[in-house]
Amino acid sequence: MSQNAKNLIDGKWVDARSKKTFKSVNPADTGEVVGVAPQSGAEDVEKAVAAARSAFREWALTPAPRRGEILFRAAESLSRQKSELGELVAREMGKVMPEALGDVQEAIDMTYHMAGEGRRLSGETVPSELPDKDAKSVRVPIGVVAQITPWNFPVAIPSWKITPALVCGNTIVFKPSSETPICATRFVEILHEAGLAPGVLNLVHGAGATVGKAMVGHPQVNAVSFTGSNPVGEKLAGICGSLHKQFTMETGGKNPILVMEDADLELAVEGCIWGGFGTTGQRCTAASRVIVHEAIFGPFVAAFVERAKRLRLGSPLDEKVDVGPVISESQFNKILNYIEIGKREGAKLLLGGKSFTKGACSKGHFIEPTIFSEVKPKMRVAQEEIFGPVVSILRVRSLGEAIDVANDTLFGLSAAIYTQDVNTSAVAERDLDTGIVYINASTIGAEIQLPFGGTKRTGLGPREAGGRGGALELYTKWKVIYRDFSGKLQRAQIDK
Ligand code: UN1
Repeated sequence: MSQNAKNLIDGKWVDARSKKTFKSVNPADTGEVVGVAPQSGAEDVEKAVAAARSAFREWALTPAPRRGEILFRAAESLSRQKSELGELVAREMGKVMPEALGDVQEAIDMTYHMAGEGRRLSGETVPSELPDKDAKSVRVPIGVVAQITPWNFPVAIPSWKITPALVCGNTIVFKPSSETPICATRFVEILHEAGLAPGVLNLVHGAGATVGKAMVGHPQVNAVSFTGSNPVGEKLAGICGSLHKQFTMETGGKNPILVMEDADLELAVEGCIWGGFGTTGQRCTAASRVIVHEAIFGPFVAAFVERAKRLRLGSPLDEKVDVGPVISESQFNKILNYIEIGKREGAKLLLGGKSFTKGACSKGHFIEPTIFSEVKPKMRVAQEEIFGPVVSILRVRSLGEAIDVANDTLFGLSAAIYTQDVNTSAVAERDLDTGIVYINASTIGAEIQLPFGGTKRTGLGPREAGGRGGALELYTKWKVIYRDFSGKLQRAQIDK
């Protein structure tokens, strides 16, 4: 059944002023309309920003533990609706049911975690160098925050952005991907129903080129958080820089798994299958490169291809299916084009390489799990983010070479190494230049209690999620307060 989504502006569910709408379809069966959402414009953004601006002061002055309690209630409600929401994620985004439930679980974890932050949000107190004077730093909210999210984690990523921004006392204008408006609407509904005052959280559906652009350029928006492609992120970074807005982006990845000569091969194969083909390769953290030591190259590659051959494609709602569709026709074409590029560059196609149209799959955007071998580090399939079920295998002769190859891309989100040797793992841990490193585990599966993000062109600004250097840095600014209760002029650095 199709659902009608609306914008949420100043606590009211409304259509776009133009009354225009767009459809969200099931990528496994594009004839099925999952829902219809407002095709908003700059005038809708204007209203949402005005609502967020006028709700700001009261929300910022609401004690943080009270803000946290609202998030706690939302987390409870999300938990109760987990299976229903999971099914919606599977239908609208196309990830298989266990992963769709994982997407919702990540949002539940994040919402509980940020609820708890309501009772922390701590700053520092330090001794003053002068008598009868104290010195401390406190976190203060930034103001109105614009948030733009992608389709690949249609509930989890909105939760990464919205829940910390709320607990820190900001008000929000949120634009989700136009591929997954219904998931985003359900998530916003749950937060809103947990007790947010009108204007604290506003949702505006529509295209990046109109809605996103209007949000980012709006003078009343103080900070922007974006997850998506590099070209868009870099453009927004320029706009925000020139307008002095706090900006953060999470963008591409080209995440490697290193399989060393002493690896537990079976475990490494499972990790590469999960990292390469889980979520149909559509994760920022997907393992799109597998860097294999020459001593075990043959047996590893044979076992990896054998295992990948057994992956079953089909409807994400079918529990026998391992790999769902890719999100859209444009992604489908882009991935197939990369496969052609790989072939032209001389990579050896070991598996897949085509669209998959058997039975009901002809109604959706399915691509066979694809493996290239004999990939050279500078080939485009080893350098560029494909965001689909395509894995490139590279051969190396040593740990040092493996690490050099791993680091030789513009990106630095996550990396993994399979080895039984504690010294090898320590070197990898030190030398892999990524935001996240896994030892004997795949490149996907970050937990929300530590920061999420990467080095180089993977991101800019503080990281997302929990922990030191995580989302609290994104959604607060520091204020330092010195209080002198000596009753006389005291001069720092001068009076002793
Ligand atoms: C993403 O692909 O943008 O570590 C997020 C992971 C998930 C989050 C991925 N927890 O793969």
